[in-house]
Amino acid sequence: MKGLIVDDSTPDKPRLMLAHIPKPKISESELLIRVRVSGLNRSDLGLTPDHYAPNTVVGTELAGEVVEVGASCSGFSEGDRVMALSSGSHAEFAKVDHRIAVKLPDDIDWQTAASLPAWFMTAYDALITQGKLRAGETVLIQGITSGVGQAAAQLAKLNGAKTVIGVARSQDKLDQLTSEEVDQTFAMKDGWAEAVREATGGQGVDLIIDMVGGGALNGNLQALAICGRMVAVGRLGGASDTLDIGMLAFKRAQITGVTFRSRNIEEKAAIARAFASHIIPLVVAGKLKPRIDRIAQLAEAGAAQELMRDNKHFGKILLAIV
Ligand SMILES: NC(=O)c1ccc[n+]([C@@H]2O[C@H](COP(=O)([O-])OP(=O)(O)OC[C@H]3O[C@@H](n4cnc5c(N)ncnc54)[C@H](OP(=O)(O)O)[C@@H]3O)[C@@H](O)[C@H]2O)c1
Repeated sequence: MKGLIVDDSTPDKPRLMLAHIPKPKISESELLIRVRVSGLNRSDLGLTPDHYAPNTVVGTELAGEVVEVGASCSGFSEGDRVMALSSGSHAEFAKVDHRIAVKLPDDIDWQTAASLPAWFMTAYDALITQGKLRAGETVLIQGITSGVGQAAAQLAKLNGAKTVIGVARSQDKLDQLTSEEVDQTFAMKDGWAEAVREATGGQGVDLIIDMVGGGALNGNLQALAICGRMVAVGRLGGASDTLDIGMLAFKRAQITGVTFRSRNIEEKAAIARAFASHIIPLVVAGKLKPRIDRIAQLAEAGAAQELMRDNKHFGKILLAIV
């Protein structure tokens, strides 16, 4: 079958490369999926040998049809339309543990489906499960122009946030956000945290969902209300920063983080179930809408990867497989 592997001959810029590789063989708890569309993610940029084995198909989310069902998989049949956050998605066929596969209603098309798992599972986990958003709270999305940021913003609005504030570098992208996503936006430049405090009457925000990490930490703390919470999701600005512990103590703030990598299959299955119950109905109702930047062919994946590396996209970059 055709699939994308990593050409790491330039280690600082590993490149997705089209290759012919064997079709995967499923275990009894897995489904074989004929992939229709897969989603390109930031995890496809910084691929290092720690993240993939040589000649292994990469990619982390997909939408497609079940073509084979493992002996112990209950609830799935050949022909089912599914989506999943699962490895090896950039190929004609992928195997997915049935516990993390989510059935796809007829009224969600392949492209929308492949845009949902990474962004909306992450955003739901960060905002609702870990962030414990309560109705009437003020939420700040740091890095709102990212896909997870847009998903978190849409979800915050639908889950009773009083005000959603977005911060990002690109004014042009901020200007394209809708009132279904955000109430107020601030460009990330000097003084942004004071501007957010002023906009909240000096109180600060109750909850921050942070996609930026390095470089944003102390501004975030400054923008946070007393007893506010912050959930670290992304590391667009880097994976480390210097924490002002005095400010943390003064704010009596809580900081937590989310990732899928350290979760076992049961924990991942719980996220997939929450996604099926709380996200899919809102997508069907037209209330949650992933923004799609473009759809590329598998052979164009290297160029799509460059576009993402240069932050020239706004919305999901999809790969059309079949
Ligand atoms: N924890 C998890 O489970 C999880 C799951 C999925 C994703 N993530 C992480 O979440 C982050 C967002 O992922 P995504 O797929 O939503 O991204 P995305 O859709 O590719 O969006 C990235 C956007 O972020 C902005 N950006 C890039 N570098 C930045 C920087 N240094 N400072 C501020 N903004 C920056 C850019 O917009 P501007 O033009 O406005 O700068 C860029 O368009 C990534 O770090 C990703 O690895 C984490």
